[in-house]
Order: sequence, then C-alpha cells, then structure tokens
Amino acid sequence: MESVIRDPSLAPEGHRKIEWAAAHSPVLAAVRERYLKDGTFEDLGVAVALPVEAKTAYLAVVLAEVGARVSVAAPLPSVVQDDVAAALAERGVAVFANSEGSPEDADRWMELALEAATSAGEAVLIDDRAGLTRIAHTTRRRLLAHLRGASEETTSGVVRLRAMEAEGVLEFPVLAANDARCKHLFDNRYGTGQSTLTALMQSTNLMLGGKRVVVLGYGWCGKGIARYAAGLGARVTVCEVDPVRGLEAYADGFDVLPALEAAGVGEVFITATGNLHVLGEEHFGRMRDGAILANAGGVDVEIDVSWLRATAEEVYEVRRHVEEFVMPDGRRLRLVGGGMVVNLTAGDGHPVEIMDLTFAIQALCAHHLANRAASMEAGLHPLPPELDEEVARLKLEAVGMGVDSLTEEQRRFLAGWRE
Ligand SMILES: NC(=O)c1ccc[n+]([C@@H]2O[C@H](COP(=O)([O-])OP(=O)(O)OC[C@H]3O[C@@H](n4cnc5c(N)ncnc54)[C@H](O)[C@@H]3O)[C@@H](O)[C@H]2O)c1
Repeated sequence: MESVIRDPSLAPEGHRKIEWAAAHSPVLAAVRERYLKDGTFEDLGVAVALPVEAKTAYLAVVLAEVGARVSVAAPLPSVVQDDVAAALAERGVAVFANSEGSPEDADRWMELALEAATSAGEAVLIDDRAGLTRIAHTTRRRLLAHLRGASEETTSGVVRLRAMEAEGVLEFPVLAANDARCKHLFDNRYGTGQSTLTALMQSTNLMLGGKRVVVLGYGWCGKGIARYAAGLGARVTVCEVDPVRGLEAYADGFDVLPALEAAGVGEVFITATGNLHVLGEEHFGRMRDGAILANAGGVDVEIDVSWLRATAEEVYEVRRHVEEFVMPDGRRLRLVGGGMVVNLTAGDGHPVEIMDLTFAIQALCAHHLANRAASMEAGLHPLPPELDEEVARLKLEAVGMGVDSLTEEQRRFLAGWRE
C-alpha cells in the first residue's frame, strides 16, 4: 500500500536519526537475535500506532527485518517527524504520517495501517492510547477477524481498554505493555521526567533553577517530572487527587497543595494526570503574569486550551512551540507545545535508552501475542513477568552489570512458613 507522508526527499536525515537510535538500542537488538528470528513474524502483519520518530522507526525496522509486514500510523500529526516517516517509507514500511495533517487525518492513517497490516493475512497491533483498537472495534470491524490481538503502550490506553473490557465490548486479547515494570518504571518516570523538562527548557530557553514548578499528578510520570525539576534546582509543588500519592510527594520532599492554591504560587505548570481539564478557567484566573503551561499527559485536554483560545484577546507565537495568550486583564499565559504531549510536540521524546527498554517489551508482547493469542481470552492481560525480567537482565548485561539468582535454599525459605 502506498505510504502517506509529507516529503520523500527528507529521507536522508531520517535515516541518520534511525541509525543513531539503532546504535543506542542494545536491548531491542538482543531481543531480535534471541527471540524474534524464530519465524513467528514471517508473513504476519504488525500495525503500529506510535509517535513517528526515530525510536519507533527502529522498532518497525527490526520487525520488518524478521519478516513482518509492518505498517506505521501516527496517532496525531503533532507527533510526526517527517524526515523519519520518509526514511521508514524508503525502507519498505507502509507509513501513514504527515506533520501537516489534521487530527481527523490521524484516524484515517490508523485505518490505513490496519488495512495494510491485514492485506495479506493476520496481524497483531502495537497500539497507542488504544487508537487502533478503537478503530478496529468501530469503523473497521470487518478487520477484527484478522487481528490476533494488541499490545498497549500507554497508561491512558490501558484506562480506555479497561472501560471497553468492563462494557464487554473488547473482542481480542490485549497485553498491557504499559504495566510491565520495564516499561512504566523507566519510560513513564525517567523518560517523561527528562524529556519533558528538556522540551520545556529548549523551547523557552529559560532555566528551571529557583523557579516554582507545579506538577499536577504524582503518578509515574509526575514523580519523574518532579524529581528531575528538583534536581535542576526548581522549587516543586505537587497537586494530586489521591491522598496517598499526595503524601508520597510530601515524603519525597515536595509541597502538596490543591490545584487552585498552587495556581497562585507557580511560575511553571506541568500536567501529567491523563485527566480532563486539570487546569481550567478558575486556575488560569489565579495565575501570575508570564506563567508557563505544559502538558506531559497522554491526552491533550488536561489544560483547557479551548477556553484559553476562546477567551484570550490575542494569541501569538512568541518562540517556536510557545504561544502567548493575552488575557482580558492584560496577564500573559504561555503555553508550550499547544497543550499536547510536550516532550513529543516540542522535543524528541524519551531518551533512546529508555525507548530501547519499552520497545524490547513491545517486541516481546507482539511475539507473545503472535504465538499465544489463540489460547488467550478477549480482554486485558499482563505481560508474563519472566519476559519483563528478561528485558531488565538484557539491559543490565548491556551495561556490564548483573544481579544474583536465589539459591535453592533461599527459594525454599521464602516459599515456606515453618522456619
Ligand atoms: N509524555 C509522555 O511521554 C508520557 C509517557 C508515559 C505516559 N504518559 C501519559 O501521562 C499520563 C499519566 O501517566 P502515569 O503513568 O503517570 O499515570 P498514573 O496513573 O501513574 O498517574 C496519574 C496520576 O494523576 C492523578 N490525577 C488524576 N486526576 C487528577 C487531577 N484532577 N488532579 C491531580 N492529579 C490527578 C492520579 O491520582 C494519579 O496519581 C497518562 O495520560 C499517560 O498515558 C505520557
């Protein structure tokens, strides 16, 4: 199937980016050598919906190398790097991604990726925010019979899939890749922590040291953001709705305040909840002139950008990726990355080493589904823990470190109760 990309002539820069990602992805390379070359993927379709940048591209390349019919769709135009899309298309992967498209185009791209992956047989899905799964259960139901199952990348996707499962409408097995320890402990925490602050600092050219940074949500992403911000010298306040997580933030050394109170305190606000309108009209009304807003959560409605656009007297781009909203009372609020996931829209996403772990997990999920889906019930499943542990072991090996194994005596001691 013909790829849908912005400009094929951008491919050379994209190839360089993919090579850089490949050179720093020893775990995925080891997974390819040890697990993926067993013939599982020969003539199997794999439809991938993920931000189209170098690390995703390398995952697609690895799957294609072991025989899969790979198609890649961007779940949003704002997470597309056109040079990488062009390079991937040149390597024979069906790519549906254009940074200049609209959110409606993204649904069409995911439909095309599903069509391409199932064009000559069965397929598995590597999904982002359950986008492909939603489409397979709505506008492309006729393809359901060709889909063995899916593996889900994000917290927000797992939340939606749980809702589908509870309604009894999820028709194939889904592995919650996000819930693997080698995924969320590193990707959500360290990956989001580093890349969100890198994107913020790069797009604003401001320092974080000394600034009052408010982090909304103290889940895995929020913990990483708070920790990196504190490491850079910021004075961090955390907002939560879960009192235990709020207490955890307090014990970690941060102030914990309701969001409306924090609104008057902060200079920089970063949302990481996966929830709707965590910052809205009331909060904006209390913010100081020059407050900076960014969203690191997986949904683009955490900051009520529609209200800001409808209310501001003037909106203009003050720097690349930074819009200034002049409010009716003259205060200026500065939004980075349009309120979409900031580390991808205004940055290069997670560090390569982090995505190496995540995509090793995803590759093993796809492999597991390809072989076992027939014996799995429709619904959400965890990744088998031994695969999670294998990824950690491979990474430790790659950095010249290692862990011990329990002795037989220790195993018996832990399993018993008489001693
Ligand atoms: N930017 C990235 O690259 C990236 C990476 C991984 C995950 N994500 C996304 O980030 C979001 C958070 O992921 P996570 O793994 O940290 O999830 P999580 O479930 O571990 O944490 C979310 C936290 O937000 C809190 N919360 C919910 N509503 C809130 C509100 N109104 N005010 C304050 N706190 C609230 C919850 O109590 C919870 O502690 C998800 O949407 C996820 O998909 C983004």
